[in-house]
Amino acid sequence: MSNKKNLRFETKQIHGGYHVDATGSRGIAIYPTAAYHFKSCDYAAKLFELSEGGNIYTRLHNPTTAAYEERVAALYNAVGALGVSSGMSSILLTVTALAQAGENIVASPFLYGGTYNQFRISLRKLGIEVRIAKSEKVEDFETLIDENTKMIYAESMGNPTCDVPDLQALGELAKRKDVPFVVDNTFGAAGFLCNPFDWGANIVVDSSTKWINGHGTAMGGIIVDGGNYNWANGKFPQIDGPSEGYHGLNLYEAFGNAAFIVKCRVDGLRDFGCCPSPFDAYLMLIGLEALSLRVKHQVESTRKLAEYCRQHPKVERVSYVGFEDHAGYKNAQKYYRYGSSSVFTIELKGDLDSTVRFVEALQLAGNMTMIGDSITVVTHPASTTHKQLSEADLKAAGVTPTLLRISLGLENVEDIIEDFEQAFAAAE
Ligand SMILES: Cc1ncc(COP(=O)(O)O)c(C=O)c1O
Repeated sequence: MSNKKNLRFETKQIHGGYHVDATGSRGIAIYPTAAYHFKSCDYAAKLFELSEGGNIYTRLHNPTTAAYEERVAALYNAVGALGVSSGMSSILLTVTALAQAGENIVASPFLYGGTYNQFRISLRKLGIEVRIAKSEKVEDFETLIDENTKMIYAESMGNPTCDVPDLQALGELAKRKDVPFVVDNTFGAAGFLCNPFDWGANIVVDSSTKWINGHGTAMGGIIVDGGNYNWANGKFPQIDGPSEGYHGLNLYEAFGNAAFIVKCRVDGLRDFGCCPSPFDAYLMLIGLEALSLRVKHQVESTRKLAEYCRQHPKVERVSYVGFEDHAGYKNAQKYYRYGSSSVFTIELKGDLDSTVRFVEALQLAGNMTMIGDSITVVTHPASTTHKQLSEADLKAAGVTPTLLRISLGLENVEDIIEDFEQAFAAAE
């Protein structure tokens, strides 16, 4: 990338992570290799003891993945990033890097269902307690924090409700309590719509399966390190203390403010193994190049479709964070460029059968469970993501038989509106 400082987002999404190589190729190469030739045993030993940087094995490093990580870190103005195999693994690696059995994390109540299950079931089995705040009010987080709390966790925009927490207030709370603030910024589109580091976050996790990839062609996740947490405060001996896996090496002394992201790589990827494939990292790089253009188009289309739905006689309710009646409206205006993302929900008039008829009559919008794709997606939670829930849990989650989650793609929105119109007629 150019040495020029302060490049803008649109420039960094194309130039970030690019370095001229020996071939002069302007395209970033895909390195489909598991292993790397060591020029000597002494050099290999240095790589393995982390006294020298370089490629060891693709579970830990790969040049294509490194370009993708550098690009994302540049977009966030962060000290480093780590590509992993899914959004779920970005969360798992982050939590297990910071919390161990007997410790706890404090999380927002507005979480993606998969995250909620990881927290409620799998982390509990590992002995890590997840305390879910009663609401998004800062005081409801604060009362749950004690000396064993290892992070505050929130989504910058909750999936699927699109609630937006007061990121700045949570960042201030985390600072006051001296615990890291971790934000799932999947909806924030790699920092284009929302950059949680501007508001006090220390670590970002992201399902790059969504807006970063942008075309629904690969699974991925990424962890981003803001480099702005003081790991030397005595709370994280696994970072500022002798490392069990590296002959007592102190990661903080060796890597300074990038110690957390190094730990996720050298312990997390080494032990849990959830690395991305180089080809998928390449797809993420390609996806990123037009991210700002894609997302702007999607956000504009979302408003138009939400407005169309709001006046439609077959629609009971529209929940769109860009409308003033949405609970997240004020915070979205503050934290999200354009005050919105490209997801909203509607409830149809009618019943389960007429809703199913509507979904199945759609010809362009896909009946899938996906967001941030180039294709407009309509998801029916009652028959998909929330199918296993009891009546009571469905009610608590606000999932009614006629609820639909919509994620706008890159089509001309007028065609999507016409698709909805014919599906409404067919659902009669
Ligand atoms: C906000 C959020 N976080 C994490 C995930 C999990 O990501 P992945 O499906 O890439 O594992 C999702 C998936 O939809 C999500 O919406």
